Amino acid sequence: MLMPLLSDNELRETRCLIDGQWIETEATYEVRNPATGELLARVPCLGAEHAREAIAAAERARPQWSAQPAHERSRILKRWHALILAHLEPLAQLLTREMGKPIGEARAEILYGASYVEWFAEEARRAYGQVIPSHDLSKQLSTVREPVGVVAAITPWNFPNAMLARKLAPALAAGCTVVAKPAEQTPLSALALSKLATLAGVPHGVLNVVLGDAVAIGAQLTANPAVRKLTFTGSTAVGRLLLRQCADTVKRVSMELGGNAPFIVFDDADLDAAVEGAMASKFRNAGQTCVCANRFLVHEAIYDEFAERLVRAVRDLRVGEGSQAGVTIGPLIDQRAKAKVAALVMDALEQGAVLLEGDAQMPGNFFAPTVLGQVNAQMRVAREEIFGPVAPLIRFVDEADALAQANASDAGLAAYFFTRDIARAHRVAAALKVGMVGINTGAISTETAPFGGVKQSGFGREGGPQGLEDYQDVKYLCLGNLR
Ligand code: SIN
Repeated sequence: MLMPLLSDNELRETRCLIDGQWIETEATYEVRNPATGELLARVPCLGAEHAREAIAAAERARPQWSAQPAHERSRILKRWHALILAHLEPLAQLLTREMGKPIGEARAEILYGASYVEWFAEEARRAYGQVIPSHDLSKQLSTVREPVGVVAAITPWNFPNAMLARKLAPALAAGCTVVAKPAEQTPLSALALSKLATLAGVPHGVLNVVLGDAVAIGAQLTANPAVRKLTFTGSTAVGRLLLRQCADTVKRVSMELGGNAPFIVFDDADLDAAVEGAMASKFRNAGQTCVCANRFLVHEAIYDEFAERLVRAVRDLRVGEGSQAGVTIGPLIDQRAKAKVAALVMDALEQGAVLLEGDAQMPGNFFAPTVLGQVNAQMRVAREEIFGPVAPLIRFVDEADALAQANASDAGLAAYFFTRDIARAHRVAAALKVGMVGINTGAISTETAPFGGVKQSGFGREGGPQGLEDYQDVKYLCLGNLR
């Protein structure tokens, strides 16, 4: 089939999507490039009423969409996947302009997002039920998996394409309909992705996108009984609030919340690999990633050498506008984010940390990649999610000490460690209280594996076979009187 291609202008959608109609409103807000301050667009500022309309549209579209054969939903998702790939470059350019990340990372994000669409297009056709060995020969027991219903998806600004794709794709694959509320800072990538979904054949009302008053829209998405599931990626503070709001209508909930990933370097580690892993984990997206290494726990015997090598690698990073060739660190998303990261660094320095690399004089939203030595577990930089390009180094004396420090956090999203000892690898992986462990690697994300956390980092999994199950209810069937 011939693939319709959108011009850059057509892809640069600035309206919201409700019931298949692209809508504008008088009330708007501005979207700006975080690197330059350039005004990129004005987008609708919707409130509770529009959110209600979007939910009603999703509820109307639900019976027909969920009744489609999985093959048909899969076919539409595959077409969406192909359209995303066909628009890779303009999607990446748009992402860099509104979010700031280097263009190479933006391209990688579009491919990463697309990989979830392809994966769930395939998984849609494998939503098997079970036949259960019966306790009674006159009864046959089985399960089927059914779509949960209307899904509300609230997504963050740090991966405006991929985080939306990895919620929309499994929801649509499972037969759910969706109301999405993308982050206010980065709506254009979400709208472009949604436009491609409609072009792929997602029917009217099956996917709705609302922007605007986060409090009013959030209240509607969480209180409306027609919404049967809320999926959220964002801060733990907002996640707690949404959880409370969902309680009254007892919704299914998936929460991908903040992390505080320990990155442990044992004294038997391959230090070249550890530094490479540290750079990948810490400085991807300028450190604005939930699974970023947040605290480097380094064995005292190799602490100085690791610190020296890390600083050398950090000096090779280039800060600047993401669209410029050679730039590896873009701006932080806004001034508030920058002020928070600066405050964490300042607090650490006041309490005795040493600045091994960094520059406090960066203009605008830019923040220099920073390495802090002599950090301890009491400092805010070790306790709070940094969400910026700052690497705090903390010493440990032995495996027990490393594990105690690593697990001393309310967060439990990801952890990383480097060792050449296979027995230790198994021991430490088992002892870490997190949802995801990188062993001798700093890059763990893939559509084929379940992404998610434990403790206050949330629950639910995105990706892997579990990603589809998160949008399905299990129904048990008991067929009696067989004998
Ligand atoms: C996130 O920061 O929430 C997602 C990062 C990833 O998928 O690798």
